[in-house]
Amino acid sequence: MACCHYFAPSDGGDTAFSVDASAITFGPGVLSEAGDHAAALGMRRVALMTDKSLAALPHVAIVRDSLIAAGLDVVLYDEVQVEPTDESFLAAARFAVEGDFDGYVSVGGGSVIDTCKAANLYATYPADFLTYVNAPIGGGQPVPGPLKPHIACPTTCGTGSECTGIAIFDLLAMRAKTGIVSRRLRPAQGLVDPTCTETLPKNVVAASAFDVLSHALESYTALPHSKRAAAKRPSLRPHSQGANPWSDLGCREALRLLGRNMVPAVVETDGQAARHQLMWAATLAGIAFGNAGCHAPHGMSYSVSGLVRDFQPAGYPAGAPIVPHGMSVIVNAPSVFRYTAPACADRHLEAASMLGADLRGAGEADAGEVLANQIIAMMKATGVPNGIGGVGYGEADIEALTDGAFPQRRLFDNAPRNISKDDLAGLYRSALSYW
Ligand SMILES: NC(=O)c1ccc[n+]([C@@H]2O[C@H](COP(=O)([O-])OP(=O)(O)OC[C@H]3O[C@@H](n4cnc5c(N)ncnc54)[C@H](O)[C@@H]3O)[C@@H](O)[C@H]2O)c1
Ligand SMILES: [Fe+2]
Repeated sequence: MACCHYFAPSDGGDTAFSVDASAITFGPGVLSEAGDHAAALGMRRVALMTDKSLAALPHVAIVRDSLIAAGLDVVLYDEVQVEPTDESFLAAARFAVEGDFDGYVSVGGGSVIDTCKAANLYATYPADFLTYVNAPIGGGQPVPGPLKPHIACPTTCGTGSECTGIAIFDLLAMRAKTGIVSRRLRPAQGLVDPTCTETLPKNVVAASAFDVLSHALESYTALPHSKRAAAKRPSLRPHSQGANPWSDLGCREALRLLGRNMVPAVVETDGQAARHQLMWAATLAGIAFGNAGCHAPHGMSYSVSGLVRDFQPAGYPAGAPIVPHGMSVIVNAPSVFRYTAPACADRHLEAASMLGADLRGAGEADAGEVLANQIIAMMKATGVPNGIGGVGYGEADIEALTDGAFPQRRLFDNAPRNISKDDLAGLYRSALSYW
């Protein structure tokens, strides 16, 4: 059950894995530590980034007061777009260039933290926008050197962006999500205060917790690092290096926490303690996928969110249609895990059990079904849309969804089973509805 054989050596495969540790401070009240950490990192003039809704909540004021009390010069930027785009990244970068900052502090969900990473990057090493964007969509150029220090304060129990070197955005011209990936984007410090989750709308708790659940499941079932072709030079080993013993630790605990706390955190009016536990799960899964990488549910999500027509969920800013990231991921997950189970059935069964599934009578041949059914039960219990049909897609959209997602090789190549273009279309078809 412990799956040691999963990391068995293979011809030409990597024989080692790297651990990129994140500097994290976790606990109620840590937002008020921001000023001291910022001063210790040498910041004097700070860009404080957030979005418009969060700017009106106490979390941003606590961080701002702490920075000012530490004697820092603070300029607020509250124009971050929820589910950012290349245009909104560039707007934040312009603010960063004009402000001539020596440090960055982000207070918000993944949209805010990712925007802050991008603003820091383009203000520190100006370049054409596509230069650092993942190939083949962008140039995939390495970030030339260290960035200015960035303290990330997550306010959703979701992305784990405070632990990762990833910044995700919607490339408007292609109507597809993609990202910038570099160890240099990883924030210098994460300040994770679980009490931030108390002000989250229910739908945002559900979407962000399903993002965590998929980070943990995808990292746990990713291609093992020992089956990925070894990098030409050790320093080029990707941080999406595949499943490894370090990422397994965070995935297992995150899945156990999600199994016990996810439904109460969303549905119970008194679910604050459960929300706090989800924040810890989000951090653990962030550490895990920041070292292992996600695979197909995330790869497929990029066109599910990029091609949105008119879906407007409660709890998110009104006006513009969006499929929130966690929803765009989880609607694909049951379909994907039914497909990937034969590659590592024991891991799929173990994951289902950690999420709370009853494994009595189940064998390896049932692994995909058992895990898919457990995810579906959690989707139903938390009111999440029923597959990609639930966010507005039908059979006629399968071709466009497939064409939009297939270039995400970084993610599909990290899946434990090969995924051809026809396979991908089949995965979308099986994700149209689940109940
Ligand atoms: N960089 C990474 O490693 C990574 C990983 C996963 C996802 N992402 C990206 O992160 C983005 C999604 O981030 P998210 O799910 O954290 O949500 P989000 O940042 O998009 O925020 C969702 C909504 O919740 C509100 N909100 C946030 N915190 C709140 C709080 N404490 N109280 C009340 N309202 C609050 C926001 O104002 C917004 O309206 C997507 O763009 C996704 O692609 C990045
Ligand atoms: Fe995610």
